[in-house]
Amino acid sequence: MIEMFKPSRVAGLAVALATLFGAAGLSQPAWAEGGEQPTRQQWSFAGPFGRYDQGQLQRGFKVYREVCSACHSLHRVAFRTLADHGGPGFTEGQVKALAAEYTVMDVPNDKGEVLERKGRPADYFPLVYPNDQAAAVANNGAVPPDMSLLAKARGVKSGFPGFVFDIFTQYQEQGPDYIHALITDGYLKDDEKPPEGVTVPPNGHYNKIFGASIGMAKPLADGQVEYTDGAPQTVDQYTRDVAAFLAWAADPSLEKRKQTGFVVIIFLIVLAGLLYYTKKKIWADAH
Ligand code: HEC
Repeated sequence: MIEMFKPSRVAGLAVALATLFGAAGLSQPAWAEGGEQPTRQQWSFAGPFGRYDQGQLQRGFKVYREVCSACHSLHRVAFRTLADHGGPGFTEGQVKALAAEYTVMDVPNDKGEVLERKGRPADYFPLVYPNDQAAAVANNGAVPPDMSLLAKARGVKSGFPGFVFDIFTQYQEQGPDYIHALITDGYLKDDEKPPEGVTVPPNGHYNKIFGASIGMAKPLADGQVEYTDGAPQTVDQYTRDVAAFLAWAADPSLEKRKQTGFVVIIFLIVLAGLLYYTKKKIWADAH
């Protein structure tokens, strides 16, 4: 029997595949239960050569700052990263000025007091609410999640066989697709009603993508944020931009990683070629 097809090996392979497929099936997140599938969008950072669009990240940051930051914090993001390569590309001076607009808590002084001071580029975005309880009180019981990792923490379930294709197309933009769809398509139009049997609390808003009543009113309206680069001032564009910004916040080294990956593949192709010709040469006399 050929070594490779020993029963024990085949069984091992079957177990490995079952684990892989089973794990994918179990990844259904709670918030997606009953929620509609978001429509997939085109993102500049998709695919093996994807890169963030600097202008879009800057617009997205503007939307975050003028709208979402009233409730959502960005507590794992340091101001300085806004000037990093592969990010929104603000200048050091802009970042310094921006950080100074925020008040942060200093480290304890000699007397053990923790005093407030102006933010510096090395600081992180401060919390919007001191704790979840305060956040819930201010938002009718719902807590606005921190946005630092939101674009990675939310997703779309593709299930079998969809996720197999996603491996080959390198689809990883579930988070931005979800955020975009949640705000643009999720909220009910005036003539739509929540599905039968769903009770929406007085301060809730039924959202089709959330699949339930959500404690956040639709946060954007056309014309709400002013763009200076001529991009359309629509909810669709705002949401696209803020979702791209949040994708960067959650994965700031995407560009570097994709570049490294590309170099590695080229290296492996060249190495494979060299190995092939070396093998031919060494075994040339043996045939
Ligand atoms: C007035 C406060 C407020 C503003 C402004 C606001 N949100 Fe929210 N948001 C909330 C609250 C509260 C929740 C939690 C809702 C819940 O769990 O029912 C939430 C939840 C979310 C969620 C998570 C949904 C999930 O799957 O758990 C996303 C995404 C989101 N907001 C995006 C945004 C974006 C983008 C903006 C800015 C354009 C924004 N929000 C502005 C209050 C706000």
